[in-house]
Amino acid sequence: MHDLVLAVPLFHRVGGIILSRWAHFLAGITWIGLLYYFNFVQTPAFAGFDAGARNEATAKLVPRALWWFRWGAMLTLLSGISILAFQDQFNADYWKTPSGVSIATGILLALVMFSNVWFVIWPAQKRVIANAENVLGGGEANPTAAGFGRRGLLASRTNTLFSIPMLFFMAATSHFAPFHTSSSSGKRGAFLGIVVFITAVLELNALGLLGGTEPGGARAYLDKHQSTIIAGFVYAAVLIALFEIFFG
Ligand code: HEM
Repeated sequence: MHDLVLAVPLFHRVGGIILSRWAHFLAGITWIGLLYYFNFVQTPAFAGFDAGARNEATAKLVPRALWWFRWGAMLTLLSGISILAFQDQFNADYWKTPSGVSIATGILLALVMFSNVWFVIWPAQKRVIANAENVLGGGEANPTAAGFGRRGLLASRTNTLFSIPMLFFMAATSHFAPFHTSSSSGKRGAFLGIVVFITAVLELNALGLLGGTEPGGARAYLDKHQSTIIAGFVYAAVLIALFEIFFG
């Protein structure tokens, strides 16, 4: 009887730890897989479609892809919170360790990405889809639709950039940061301050708040998905080097 009393909560906790991680990976690959499909496959392919075919695909294919995309993002967030809730070491001291700094970095990037999905990309794409449906039904094209498409594209490319350091720090929490021992409130503050600053500048640029949404100039790294991938690895390399310097 005594063993059973101990075993039931243990099962719940171990079950919670593994089930929330499993859900997190399934939801995460659904979300980021579709993000990469949009950026590396759909956008370049649509550029070569004629207008009729593009409207047809926008009205009939894109809404399905966006449904899985945004709900994948939602489940990734909820399962991520659930991993934290089931974690043994989750208390105020956890955030003071290199692992705590690593997951704070991953979560910060992922939360900006989640906000881009729900508050920028999805609202913009709804207008693009409504325009395509209207044109297919014989209506006039909406001249503002291209602007919404551009807004969604900048946020989507920026999410592709963020996904590269974000995934490093998600995985680094248990598989890299534990090999680091040094930590102090000054180092944590400096590291996280740099992460917040660079991420904020990149995000404001994606939103067009640092001089508009035109291609080239300060947004050249978002002009082609190849450049965005390189920028993502550069940002990841900068953060990994700083992590080594501060906590190595
Ligand atoms: C949306 C907000 C997110 C939150 C709150 C979150 C939270 C977490 C937490 C708490 C962990 C456990 C870290 C540890 O202790 O090892 C984790 C791990 C992980 N997450 Fe996330 N996450 C988020 C987004 C994402 C996204 C978008 C992906 C993309 C696929 C992702 C992929 C991973 C991976 C691969 C791990 C490593 C698990 C391991 O090494 O055991 N997460 N996440």
